Amino acid sequence: MSQPRIVVTRRIPEPALELLHAAGDVWLSPHDRPLTREELFEAVQGADAVVCLLHDQIDDAVLDAAGPQLKVIANVAVGYNNVDTDAIAQRGSVWFTNTPAVLTEATADIAMSLILMATRRLGEGERVIRSQTPWVWSMFYMLGTGIQGKTLGIVGLGLIGQATARRAKAFGMDVIYSGRRQADPAVERELGARYVSFDELLETADVVSLHCPLNAETHHLIDAARLKQMRSDAFLINTTRGPVVDEAALVDALRSGEIAGAGLDVFEEEPTVHPGLLDLENAVLIPHLGSATIETRTAMGVLAAENAIAVLRGETPPTPVVRVS
Ligand code: GLV
Repeated sequence: MSQPRIVVTRRIPEPALELLHAAGDVWLSPHDRPLTREELFEAVQGADAVVCLLHDQIDDAVLDAAGPQLKVIANVAVGYNNVDTDAIAQRGSVWFTNTPAVLTEATADIAMSLILMATRRLGEGERVIRSQTPWVWSMFYMLGTGIQGKTLGIVGLGLIGQATARRAKAFGMDVIYSGRRQADPAVERELGARYVSFDELLETADVVSLHCPLNAETHHLIDAARLKQMRSDAFLINTTRGPVVDEAALVDALRSGEIAGAGLDVFEEEPTVHPGLLDLENAVLIPHLGSATIETRTAMGVLAAENAIAVLRGETPPTPVVRVS
């Protein structure tokens, strides 16, 4: 019997590739970059399974290019704004899976790091040392803002939001959260977290941390008007997806002192960063490192591989988003 064809759009960690090689005939992109649209169309032709990354746009055109034998698209990411899940659901024959849970702790570590970096001016401090700018210790030199006893506002108390809240609590912060649904009472109790309206969260939190997925409803959720609602001594942290924030409006708010600072792991037009952010001392900018640990990236690759392989075997994959009934 012929082996299933498994297409991997860019290199993923070896343990994941080993699983896939044992399960089928693997085509792995030879490029260390995202495939172009044309390369993607060509690569997916005849695929039974496609293992893709967050920079691959998966839509009707890609599904058409793959052909009717396609059984599963396995995204190696928890976020899936790169995938047209309606188009997949309409086919009725293609599973779609993501990689939830395995990147929770790593991403929350980055959110907490950004909270500390932004409030304690760590990027700015590093730039002083590296640029050999003269400095001398004084009682008043480069004072930041303490977070103990301050309020963290979590927008979207999913797994990553909860893990960030847990860390913030250990640092002595109080936690409020907003979102479409109130969390389980046990989760609220553990975190000491209070459910509030989005308005109340923006108006009262000392630090606002975004953990909602990017979709049509959350695109530019933080725009000029929302930034105005925030306190002038508040910080905005974004570890979800860049387009949840209107980056141009954020530049204006940071410049004018409408908010105190920001910590950003994600950007609207990655890898491009709004030029206005680059010379702002009160913006901490890091290149989409949320899940970037060896352990986490390996776990993500392995989970995506397990998802693809389960479908190829006729089983239910571990973490489906779109199911085939
Ligand atoms: C990373 O950004 C992910 O969504 O997994």
